Amino acid sequence: MQVGIDKIHFATSHLYVDMTELARQRGQAPDKFLIGIGQSQMAVIPPSQDLVTLAANAAYPMLTAEDAAAIDLVVVGTESGIDHSKASAIYVARLLGLNRRCRTIEMKEACYAGTAGVQLASDHVRVHPDKKALVIGADVARYGLNTPGEPTQGGGAVAMLISANPRVLAIDTESTVLSQDVMDFWRPPYRTEALVDGKYSSNIYIDYFQDVFKGYLEQTGTSANAFDALIFHLPYTKMGLKALRSALPMVSETQQQRWIAHFEASRKLNRLVGNLYTGSLYLSLLSLLIADPNLKAGDRLGLFSYGSGAEGEFYGATLQADYQQGIDLGLPQRLARRQRVDVSAYEDCFNGQLAWQPANQTLPTHNDPHRFILTGQKDQQRQYLDRCN
Ligand code: CAA
Repeated sequence: MQVGIDKIHFATSHLYVDMTELARQRGQAPDKFLIGIGQSQMAVIPPSQDLVTLAANAAYPMLTAEDAAAIDLVVVGTESGIDHSKASAIYVARLLGLNRRCRTIEMKEACYAGTAGVQLASDHVRVHPDKKALVIGADVARYGLNTPGEPTQGGGAVAMLISANPRVLAIDTESTVLSQDVMDFWRPPYRTEALVDGKYSSNIYIDYFQDVFKGYLEQTGTSANAFDALIFHLPYTKMGLKALRSALPMVSETQQQRWIAHFEASRKLNRLVGNLYTGSLYLSLLSLLIADPNLKAGDRLGLFSYGSGAEGEFYGATLQADYQQGIDLGLPQRLARRQRVDVSAYEDCFNGQLAWQPANQTLPTHNDPHRFILTGQKDQQRQYLDRCN
């Protein structure tokens, strides 16, 4: 029996900032952001969206009543938690109207936790093939205004339905992981922006990729040429390109050209959104599946997941014949319809998020077109609204 991703869907905000404009405002050459970082646009997350609403907005369009009845596990992987105790997955399950006989948990390990969720859910379904699991990687990436990390911000959520006999991607049971205590990126509880040693984190990312990719090939006796495409966690798309380049000497020239062409498709949508931490690898997967005309059923994909701190995992998966039926085909059009905001409006959004203080707060919501929104805080409880209820 095969287990893996049966459906995959993405949500971000309706706002973005243009990277050329941001570069000019910050006194940088636009090509540094467009080519050196590899980002063209960056999602601007308004105060009325947090990881919970992004997660619910990503999941609801893909779930049928039959799916909802079969889901008995909901995992939200996130770096952007809103509570030290309660799992965001409980809010998400409630907003989505899921079954109460359901495990609802939040997982944390920087950008890696979405993959931890996918692997946990896949093992769960292997034991209970009549059940389904909902895994969501949801984050708002925040480094701070006018910081080196600023052009690598963004936000959004990727929701994946994990099932037996999946339509999109069958996930192998074998993978290679690496976990070591590294201080490349972290966020103490009193901070709303990450602390990062940017250059160090980029070097560690490559070291981890090399370690788990080579480790995987040795462990499984696989040749690098066996992979039709490699996809990566993309904190910024140039990062993935650097990792890909580090693997090119391992394959033939023809294969190198194929890998580069697939990679270009896999970073197309990430270029327009920016980093979304836990969901980034899976947005790249979606980008590949939507934008690549040269994929075919049976293609072998290699996925590299990285979370600072640091944990990495490389695993293989096989593209399924009906993958077009399980993917978010309307996504490029939705991204194209977003509203461009100027740098000052982006900064207002950045500074306007719900304050971490006990007072009641009301957030501006009238311009946010999404179904699930955060309206504020009352009696120290976040207030979520489902516009369809
Ligand atoms: N035209 C073209 N390219 C230009 C250019 C121009 N005019 N000017 C500069 N560049 C290039 C530089 O040569 C450089 O390219 P290389 O990396 O290939 O050498 C690139 O643009 C970036 O320039 P700098 O290195 O000078 O940029 P910076 O010091 O301002 O910061 C950064 C870059 C370190 C990535 C910073 O944005 C950052 O700290 N980001 C957050 C950390 C991060 O994303 N780390 C990734 C690994 S960690 C991870 O993956 C987990 C996670 O999601 C957080």
